[in-house]
Amino acid sequence: MRDKSLQDRNLPDQERAAMPSVTEVEPQRNLFDRNPHLDTSKARPLAPIGVFDSGAGGLTILSTLRQELPQEDYIYFGDTVHCPYGKRTEADITALTVDACRLLVEQGVKLIVIACNTASQAALQTVRATFSLPIVGVVPAVKPAARMTKNGRIGIAATDQAARSVYLQQLIADFASDIQAYAAGCSELVTLVERGDLAGPAVELTLRMVLAPLTDHDIDVLVLGCTHFPAMRSAIEHVVGEHVQVIDSAAAIARRTRNILLTESALHPSQGQNQQGGLQVWCSGNAEHFSAVASAILGYPVAASQKMQ
Ligand code: DGL
Repeated sequence: MRDKSLQDRNLPDQERAAMPSVTEVEPQRNLFDRNPHLDTSKARPLAPIGVFDSGAGGLTILSTLRQELPQEDYIYFGDTVHCPYGKRTEADITALTVDACRLLVEQGVKLIVIACNTASQAALQTVRATFSLPIVGVVPAVKPAARMTKNGRIGIAATDQAARSVYLQQLIADFASDIQAYAAGCSELVTLVERGDLAGPAVELTLRMVLAPLTDHDIDVLVLGCTHFPAMRSAIEHVVGEHVQVIDSAAAIARRTRNILLTESALHPSQGQNQQGGLQVWCSGNAEHFSAVASAILGYPVAASQKMQ
């Protein structure tokens, strides 16, 4: 086992690296332009990967990242004091996201995954213009859903902010214009996940209510357009029924991260060996509570520390 402490590592200065487009939804013409300031000469394979979300939702992405890239070290930051982002304005979300990314950049991370649809949609362009390391965002899996549907009706569950965003409308126009796509704001579910309420009759009652605007349209694919929602996937699948396929973006994000690191020659050198990298979990709010929620979502115990941006 390698040393799991990331803090003591003497990491070189942040490299200037490629600004790749995000996700499997290509091309992202307006929001995911490449940064023209490329300099891939300073790949830093030993540096950790930073993963950020408004709270605990990004842990569902972190979990998949650790399966895909187990040898990497990770620093996870959940901005729990300001969660939920989905009830905030775009300007507010952008400012908070820039602050969170700065915190991670200061730790010498080699790449940041913004494991939050709401933050990605509002702030990705600004964050990429502010920092020069590779930044991977999350996009709702509308394109795969449009390919997958048999009856031509898909539902997209997102935060209130993301559900009414121009960005989502554009995504639907680009990739789902020939089918019926329905979006619903389900920010109540973010609150449940942050509380650690992931299953049970009360959770299913709320799910039935907030997903009704989608299930009432007889959808056969449900896109989880918020990274919090996969944390309650079993309950969601139970509520929507077997005839509805439930999909998210985690696997696409993990593949995208691997490809970028490969291109940048920045994969951890122990890649392929039987070693598990380190993990630090940080939050801006109550660390004891976040430890409990994070452990429940990840399925193994983690001890979170409180960090202020
Ligand atoms: N996890 C975030 C997302 O994917 C949003 C949660 C929030 O509203 O803060 O959109």
